[in-house]
Amino acid sequence: MAAECIVGAQWGDEGKGKVIDYFARKADYVVRWAGGGNAGHTILLPDGRKFVLHLLPAGVFHQGVVNVLGAGVVLDPWQVLEEMEALERAGLRVDPSRLRISLRAHMVLPWHKALDQAREKDGRPGRIGTTGKGIGPCYEDKAGRRGLRMADLASREGLASSLERLARERNLLLESLYGEAPIDPARVEASLVEAGERLLPFLEDTGLLLRKALGEGKSVLFEGAQGVLLDLDHGTYPYVTSSSASSGGVFSGAGIPFGGLDRVIGVAKAYTTRVGEGPFPSELHGEAGERLRKAGGEFGATTGRPRRCGWLDCAALRYSLALSGAREMVLTKLDVLSGQGPLKILASYEGMDGFPSSAGEVSRLRPRYEEVPGWDEPLGGVRSFEGLPGPARDYVLRVEDLTGVRISMVSVGPGRDEVFRR
Ligand code: GDP
Ligand code: IMO
Ligand code: MG
Repeated sequence: MAAECIVGAQWGDEGKGKVIDYFARKADYVVRWAGGGNAGHTILLPDGRKFVLHLLPAGVFHQGVVNVLGAGVVLDPWQVLEEMEALERAGLRVDPSRLRISLRAHMVLPWHKALDQAREKDGRPGRIGTTGKGIGPCYEDKAGRRGLRMADLASREGLASSLERLARERNLLLESLYGEAPIDPARVEASLVEAGERLLPFLEDTGLLLRKALGEGKSVLFEGAQGVLLDLDHGTYPYVTSSSASSGGVFSGAGIPFGGLDRVIGVAKAYTTRVGEGPFPSELHGEAGERLRKAGGEFGATTGRPRRCGWLDCAALRYSLALSGAREMVLTKLDVLSGQGPLKILASYEGMDGFPSSAGEVSRLRPRYEEVPGWDEPLGGVRSFEGLPGPARDYVLRVEDLTGVRISMVSVGPGRDEVFRR
């Protein structure tokens, strides 16, 4: 394994956590390049314990892996400490030899969360259905060149004045526009300095670290957060997240030179889900959607919201796989389709080659479906392609045909070993 990148090929929750944990056993580094605590990556360990990681990379369950949060990540200092403490309570210590945090990563501060949540209150026009973790406002301040970075914690130089400047702008919005209480920068500073002291040993120029590692031929696994269809530039804008979820973001987010990737793998669920607002061409409403939600346990790993469910959208997949340069794919949750009766696959959008650039256009697409036979056998114990029932094999082959991308691995359950390669 050299430098590999794993991206979610849909709107998130494809099973990236499980797949990254699987690949991490052979990695030296596992690296997040974008996003923040909005991610929820679930990992089921062989002893049956289940963990949901939000900020920590999914390599933390393998000793010997160095986990990295790159410059493009936005990081809530209190949340990352909490996550480390939760792991420690479970007997897994994440010390500075196993987690490196970029000095350039921006901090998610209380104003960001408060603004995110204020904008998202029920009934507010323009709601995106965010996770409420402060991601959008934090990236706004980053792009507005008034954000605070982990480096500001390390030096503390000008920390108080930077916080005051941010507070002036953000409190104005919070109070005047949204009628929320202002947040006192002095109190944030005190708590931040305390968190900063604990985080200091983890901070580093992680770009330098990774460029060196790649130069030495180490195995580096880049972990996508969010799904490609939530990419800020290329997703279903404005119903997207505020970062580069596609593999293009790796270079700037992690700080490695272009061309540094040997392989991109797309992870796709055997059907589609989406959390929050925004167009979803193959969505199933009513009882049919409910049946998939129940079978797949489709509730958000970060917010607990019911996920919207629908058929596999191969037209959207063609777009996201091409965009991210994925020449192979891991198909997850095939087991969930057992007993769902005849299945549908969205094969194309009528009169549209590619993917529309506006959410309005996406919602007007006319999907063309293929109906294929389903199967009733449970797949949890299957460990080879040949072991699948005929219709499940045909399903996999049809998805390959429609997307033009090889399915190199199939996942048939949440456990680390409930998977087989092809
Ligand atoms: P991520 O955000 O892409 O890491 O995905 P999530 O963790 O949010 O959601 C995926 C859910 O599906 C988690 O509860 C996983 O434990 C579970 N899961 C992953 N792969 C499989 C699979 O092949 N079959 C089943 N039944 N569950 C799976
Ligand atoms: P993982 O990594 C599913 C969605 C939110 C919302 C939009 C913007 O587990 O796949 P944000 O809080 O990022 O500003 O919300 O993006 N979203 C996700 N949906 N899985 C995720 O992460 C998501 N991260 C953000 O629901 O629609
Ligand atoms: Mg998730």
